[in-house]
Amino acid sequence: MNNNLIAVYPGSFDPPTNGHIDIISRASIIFPKVIVAITHNQSKEHLFPLEERVEMMKKSTRHLKNIKVDSFSGLLVNYLDKIGGFVVIRGLRALADFEYEFQMALMNRTLNKKIETVFLMPDQEYTFLSSSMIKEIAILNGDFKKFVPPVVYKKMKNKKGI
Ligand code: COA
Repeated sequence: MNNNLIAVYPGSFDPPTNGHIDIISRASIIFPKVIVAITHNQSKEHLFPLEERVEMMKKSTRHLKNIKVDSFSGLLVNYLDKIGGFVVIRGLRALADFEYEFQMALMNRTLNKKIETVFLMPDQEYTFLSSSMIKEIAILNGDFKKFVPPVVYKKMKNKKGI
């Protein structure tokens, strides 16, 4: 076993949900060090600025000792290179995720042949969750408390426009 192995869980986490925390908890048991790497997804308009997403993620994972939260811009493979990592964690919620994840994993490996993507399945109660769905429920005044960490719930409740 490589005790210096760093696994990176990338995403936009806008906002972090209990499904993300579930994946991070599972990864923290398997890998000695896990970096949650938050970035801007070019194809999405984000509700929370990067700094707020980082802050929410830090607070939501502080009970896990081997987790670090960081942010990056640009290509994931370049970030991995910078921190000396080659393992990417991704969550697979349902078959619908597979095509996109397969494409991303192979593209990352084409960009850097050392990159390995490890897929983890969240608890089945989180398989239908997504950040957009949480935002939609919040905007339409639905109850989303059980889907997000308490800090995220509070932040969303205080957010203008929600
Ligand atoms: N629980 C709950 N929701 C989950 C989840 C889980 N376990 N896993 C995924 N999701 C949700 C996310 O919240 C997200 O919801 P949204 O679309 O409503 O925002 C959705 O599923 C898709 O998640 P994901 O695929 O992780 O998208 P992302 O935007 O969070 O992450 C990046 C994509 C950032 C990893 C990718 O765009 C990237 O690597 N960007 C850097 C640039 C780069 O290298 N590009 C080339 C890639 S080949």
